[in-house]
Amino acid sequence: MIVLGIESTCDETGFALVKDGKIILSNQVASQIQTHSPFGGVVPELASRKHVEMIPFLLKKALKESDISLKEVDLIAVAMGPGLLGPLLIGMNTAKTLSLALKIPFVGVNHIEAHLFAALMSAANPPPLPALGLVVSGGHSSLFKIEKIGDYSIIGSTQDDAIGEAFDKAASLLSLPYPGGPAIEKLAKAGNPQAYPFKAGHIKDRPLDFSFSGLKTSILYTVKGVGGKKGDAPILPQECFADVAASFQEAAFADVILKLKKGKEHIGAQSLIFGGGVTNNRTLREKVADAFPDTPAFWPDFSMTLDNAAMIAGLGTYVYQAKGRSDPFTLMPKTRFI
Ligand code: KG4
Ligand code: ZN
Repeated sequence: MIVLGIESTCDETGFALVKDGKIILSNQVASQIQTHSPFGGVVPELASRKHVEMIPFLLKKALKESDISLKEVDLIAVAMGPGLLGPLLIGMNTAKTLSLALKIPFVGVNHIEAHLFAALMSAANPPPLPALGLVVSGGHSSLFKIEKIGDYSIIGSTQDDAIGEAFDKAASLLSLPYPGGPAIEKLAKAGNPQAYPFKAGHIKDRPLDFSFSGLKTSILYTVKGVGGKKGDAPILPQECFADVAASFQEAAFADVILKLKKGKEHIGAQSLIFGGGVTNNRTLREKVADAFPDTPAFWPDFSMTLDNAAMIAGLGTYVYQAKGRSDPFTLMPKTRFI
């Protein structure tokens, strides 16, 4: 079964062709980082326009790389949310148009669920269930109870910044480029993770929820001085920045490990499934391996951690086989979706 996947939830346009839910024939992604970085965040209207510009080009590139014609496509899968409304409408209307014009069935899938599904696409065996899912990205830090594939319930989420967003903001305070995650990971290697006693937030009576905004403020005050503002010049000498990066990463991941331990116990999880851009971080992967030596852990391939359409096509294959097609006339984007 050949599935065309389409991703346009935020600031990446993605087109992929995936065979039988696992074999990636092409996974084309165009990032809009350069478009949005002068504004310090994603500008929804600009994101929509960029998606419109990139779609014909990426579709052609994906078909060419996989040597597949549109006539050979058996299913079109599109991310229907969560995300920004304009970008979602563009991806979904592209999928609906192709589906109706070419008479190919179409299915809408959840982008967050697709991040978790990415980890299963490269796995040799299915995960022992129930599984604990963790999505850590620029927009999400969420824990899921996974009873079976396709049956997810959220058991913890961030009350303020997502963890990737905290990495991006901490990086900006340390004068590192966007996206901040890879830059912090690199700088942290040269620093002492115990140099500063940073700590992530704790929410009363909500042991599985995350809070990273206090951690971000600790970095702000350490670098710019207590009461300092984002635009102020640093008071901390440059040679201490690596220690700040390492201590920040240590605090953020200590909190992730703590929540994983609590979540695993809470649901009696038999395995761990990870997804999202922050799973690119090798220190995180090592910390999980150390903390859970006996629990099977499923990670996405490094090429599938960031937003991409191969994970949409993979999940789309599964959803179509389990539940059937979506109706292009009634399916609408969902900006908030679990
Ligand atoms: O999954 P993704 O593309 O975006 C959303 O769906 O939100 O993830 C992007 C996020 C950014 O915040 C980026 O800084 C973070 O993933 N990230 C990392 C690393 N690589 C990317 N965070 C920590 N360490 C990394 N190596
Ligand atoms: Zn994502």
